[in-house]
Amino acid sequence: MLTVTLSAANPSEVGTPLLVVALVENPTLSGIAALDTAVAGALTRTIEMKDFRGARDEMLHLTGVAKGPRRLMLIGMGATTDRRASLKRAATLAARHAHRLGVGEMTWYSGQITAEETEAVVVGLIAGSWEYTELKSQPPEAERKKPLERATILTSNTDDSRRGLANGQAIGEGQSLARRLAMMPGNVCTPDLLAETAREIGQRHGMEVTVLGRAEMEAEGMGSFLAVAQGTPQEPKLVVLKYNGGPGGQKPVMLIGKGLCFDSGGISIKPAQGMEFMKFDMCGAAGVLGALEAVGQMKLNVNVVGMIGATTNMPSGTAMNPGDVVKSHFGKFIEIINTDAEGRLVLADLLSYARRFNPDVVIDAATLTGACVIALGHAATGVFTNDDALLAEVLAAGKRAGEPGWPLPLWDEYKDLIKSDVADVKNSGGRPAGAVTAALFLKEFVEGFPWVHLDIAGTAYSESDLVTIPKGPTGVPTGTFVEFIRGRMR
Ligand code: BES
Ligand code: MN
Ligand code: ZN
Repeated sequence: MLTVTLSAANPSEVGTPLLVVALVENPTLSGIAALDTAVAGALTRTIEMKDFRGARDEMLHLTGVAKGPRRLMLIGMGATTDRRASLKRAATLAARHAHRLGVGEMTWYSGQITAEETEAVVVGLIAGSWEYTELKSQPPEAERKKPLERATILTSNTDDSRRGLANGQAIGEGQSLARRLAMMPGNVCTPDLLAETAREIGQRHGMEVTVLGRAEMEAEGMGSFLAVAQGTPQEPKLVVLKYNGGPGGQKPVMLIGKGLCFDSGGISIKPAQGMEFMKFDMCGAAGVLGALEAVGQMKLNVNVVGMIGATTNMPSGTAMNPGDVVKSHFGKFIEIINTDAEGRLVLADLLSYARRFNPDVVIDAATLTGACVIALGHAATGVFTNDDALLAEVLAAGKRAGEPGWPLPLWDEYKDLIKSDVADVKNSGGRPAGAVTAALFLKEFVEGFPWVHLDIAGTAYSESDLVTIPKGPTGVPTGTFVEFIRGRMR
């Protein structure tokens, strides 16, 4: 885990293995004149020769001089309109670079920055240094590279900037936790492990944690969740984390996450090609845990309830079958058309159970449909709601977090697609508008609170190595959740 500190030192004078200087498009020497002198005018010449123009994502690595920074890296932020976003992106890139170099520690300089900008830099540095190495053997000593463990941000060390640092660290660590859980294979990240992780978070931050197993869920009448879990010998877990940071009577913000530690499709089994990606089917749950970790660290003055439904979806002699009808916690009967539409079966009972906590609002996140990936690709989370004011709040939160969402309709026109001949509703509407019919199915179990559903199937993980994110989990929707909760406090 990266430790970040602040220092008011002059960039030309810090003894650091790597000094990263972030610059906007068409940079000038303002703020780095002393540094330029220290490196005998190398920066002036570099800018004059247009070897570095400050374009977004541009990187130029220079060797420093004997005194002060041993290496210099210039990083471009482009013609920025959103300083926070540009700083975060540049910091992520810088930390990735430093991590790959194996320098162990780095120093960041981007001129005078506000507390909010400091926070963005910290979030970026932590994201860029993130790597999941727990299941890789160490290379031989000679080839080993130091992981990036320490970073210093050069800025005035005030109460304000220290607050930015603390908040950035909280969010960064929440996101790293979510990414770690998501990267873990299904045989490591089990429902048990998710429940155990929730207990640890609860213990660290004084949250009440309740875990329901199969027997408790049976007593609650959660026939829909249990239909998914009946195919696996692993104990399913419904985990509730209660953070009471706000006033006693304040209704909580409720966050709900799909926690399928592996989704084979069940009897409606998925094709073998790419099935390994279905270990990511718990990214909604990981986001809930990451957000609670961040909220707990920030000690936010607000009440939050996190809830995750953890199990696996397996084909077996005890598994649910297409055509089966189950009774949900809400009371509605569900015809199971496709056992691979399991996430909505889990969420149906969670959304129904949510009423017990008298939530102010409920946001659920789930890697729910391949159809959402077809509709929006990997650039936007699909957002659905029964309340337009809440929708605007969640979209704004996503934007602030750098995790954009885009609304899709929940019109009654689509409802015919999930009408059942034998039960109240069926769990699959087939291929047309697949993300919409999944959300409409969830809506059948929502009563008494404003609700937003986030379909993160395309945004929770990356299939390729992107500029700021290596192949794997992105941390979405942790940031959206945190920004939403903070936004409510303003
Ligand atoms: N977890 C999957 C959705 C998914 C698919 C996420 C691909 C990311 C990438 C979900 O449980 C699922 O299998 N959904 C089905 C629904 C269908 C059977 C109605 C799907 O999207 O194909
Ligand atoms: Mn599925
Ligand atoms: Zn699934």
